[in-house]
Amino acid sequence: MKTIELKQLLKDMSLDEKVGQLVQLSGEFFQANDISYGPITKLGISQKVVDLAGSVLNVAGAEETRRVQDQQMKMQPHHIPVMFMSDVIYGYKTVYPIPIGLGASWDPKLVKEAFNTAADEASAAGIHVAYAPMLDTVHDARWGRVLESPGEDPYLNSVYAKAMVEGFQENFENNNGVAACFKHFAGYGAVESGREYNSIDMSISNLYQNYLPAYKSAVKAGAKMAMTSLTSLNGVPSTADEKLLNELLRKTWGFNGIIISDYASIYELVKHGFASDEYDAAHKAINATVDIDMKSPCYANSLKKLVADGKLNEEKIDESVWRVLSLKNELGLFEDPYRGTSVARENKSVLSSDKRELARKLASEAIVMLQNKNDVLPLNKNEKIALIGPYSTDHSLLGMWAVHGEPKDSVSILEGIERYTSNVTATKGTDINRSREMLKEMGFPNEEEISKVISNQEVEHENNEEALQLAKRADVVVLALGESTLEAGEAGAKTKLTLPENQLNLINEISKLGKKVVLLVISGRPLVLTNIIDKVDSILECWFPGTEGGAAIADILFGKANPSGRLTMSFPYSSGQEPIYYNHLSTGRPVDDSQHVGRFVSKYLDAPAAPLYPFGYGLSYGKVTYESMSLDKSVMTHAGNIEAKVVLKNDSDWDCQETAQLYLHDKVATIVQPVKKLIDFKKVAIKAHTKKTVSFSISPMQLTFFDNYGEEILENGDFTLFIGSNSRDCLAKDFTLTD
Ligand code: BGC
Repeated sequence: MKTIELKQLLKDMSLDEKVGQLVQLSGEFFQANDISYGPITKLGISQKVVDLAGSVLNVAGAEETRRVQDQQMKMQPHHIPVMFMSDVIYGYKTVYPIPIGLGASWDPKLVKEAFNTAADEASAAGIHVAYAPMLDTVHDARWGRVLESPGEDPYLNSVYAKAMVEGFQENFENNNGVAACFKHFAGYGAVESGREYNSIDMSISNLYQNYLPAYKSAVKAGAKMAMTSLTSLNGVPSTADEKLLNELLRKTWGFNGIIISDYASIYELVKHGFASDEYDAAHKAINATVDIDMKSPCYANSLKKLVADGKLNEEKIDESVWRVLSLKNELGLFEDPYRGTSVARENKSVLSSDKRELARKLASEAIVMLQNKNDVLPLNKNEKIALIGPYSTDHSLLGMWAVHGEPKDSVSILEGIERYTSNVTATKGTDINRSREMLKEMGFPNEEEISKVISNQEVEHENNEEALQLAKRADVVVLALGESTLEAGEAGAKTKLTLPENQLNLINEISKLGKKVVLLVISGRPLVLTNIIDKVDSILECWFPGTEGGAAIADILFGKANPSGRLTMSFPYSSGQEPIYYNHLSTGRPVDDSQHVGRFVSKYLDAPAAPLYPFGYGLSYGKVTYESMSLDKSVMTHAGNIEAKVVLKNDSDWDCQETAQLYLHDKVATIVQPVKKLIDFKKVAIKAHTKKTVSFSISPMQLTFFDNYGEEILENGDFTLFIGSNSRDCLAKDFTLTD
């Protein structure tokens, strides 16, 4: 539609119709399958509001979206098509590894491809907007939603933000892309004590330095939508934060897309104690330029009244409606309300072999080898394998936020291994979780459902016994353990980050047999593995690896793929260390570099200050060593770059992929600086028994930091550059910045 026609349409619309465009409802209102997570409450809205609703949450599938589109367009006086929005967070039907695993691939190119193909599937299924990428920087593994984020580093997350947004929107013009809706603006990852939906309180410098860059990168990459956070930031709920949304996001960053509230978050302004009632909440949210109200009655029931009461200028509503109509127009919905969807197109797109191949490659790049004593891995196909654990044959490898993915489409670990050898026998060994209380908290509705997970004592005992017998007869034991799907993800906060007691007991018993033991960890977060590392030989962190998870795990186990994943979240030594992250600020009494010795340094009495595995860490078959780091100059001016070089030496028989990581430390600054911060990285292939020189060009703009007014500052002085295989093990060189 031409802009002039769109403007005319806006003029012709009644206020009711306009308000309708700003209301988003989920499937149950349209007699469609509702796959949304979130509290189900009666909204208290009229049928008229439902008829005029401008967008639909989490209804998908070509047939279903076409039906709802027909139904809704008939109801709309101007036959305006609805927009279908959905949580396509790390894949649609072909599910890629959870984003904390995608992060670990350090492969933005491949991640872009994954988002591109997810957009292909989702758009074929009638989805117009995907609620991703989730770009909350995460420091605290207690928070269940670390699963959805690429990790703890603002620079790396910014690189992924760009890749993800571009991947989604690349083919937008051709009906193949989806609009990216980055979230959750802003700072959701810093919820206090890792408790879900808790508040966020942080310095402005910290916010700008660590939390905002990834969202900003999504805006720069052209993301068409932004979602607010369910939380409050420095005392103001994000959904009504005029300064954050209008001043910063729109005016300073130039974002001119749609802002949508998160699920019921306008209504929740009342619960926050920030609005007196729904009317006040609607007023505050629209003033903060929130365009669409997701799943709450506030806009539906109050916007018109606010205008009638003279509290809200209708122009303000027009601005929001204009943004909604503009995206519908960009999507081409006025010309083709189905946007080219059809069951045939959908069937051709979903789970196609090229997508499965990509999912397998990405999952193998996401897996992080944490330990490999005596080179127990890779396995020899002739070895007799006992595959033990609740994840041995389970297809639930998709993780909590794969709302469209179906476990039945995924490759289990046993199936993956069987592609290499028939010398394997699998058994469950123990339940995934045996805490009734916890299952109830996870949302299991009744005893019947709980008893599907928790076996009775006798059966559990038999399972244990069977596992031990199997292990005794094997050459190598592969343990497939971890968290259950609902233990991670939204509302999956935990204070204990170890495996459950029953799984730990199983590891203990197996370790006594003196067999080679490989542990596969399926989890949505960094777990505490401290008490396990001496009981097993090898550990692979597999995350929720997605549709091709079992195949990718087997590729690593048998050495078809050489592990190259590197952690993007620190793995704690103990739960009490959380939040723990590598780029923390320098303290006055650093544990290993203080004038004090013994007690009075920044440490714990009962655990080291350092994590068990640091950010950037991961092993490969074969080892690459770093040597001969050099800088071309020791003085940098504001006008010029310096070059840093390092030689990577692969003395092994393996072709490796190595991620060389470049970190910076600013020695003296007017705001205390992190001990290290990532400023660049290169993932390179190094053939067996060869060397490769990797170089980085560093510009003054990479030396800036943010002050407590949110200003980006460049200060002259002394810096250290580090290059290494992770944030702990690095070579270092100093240089100075002058005018
Ligand atoms: C989550 C969002 C999600 C939305 C819609 C909320 O509970 O916080 O991330 O996009 O639901 O499903």
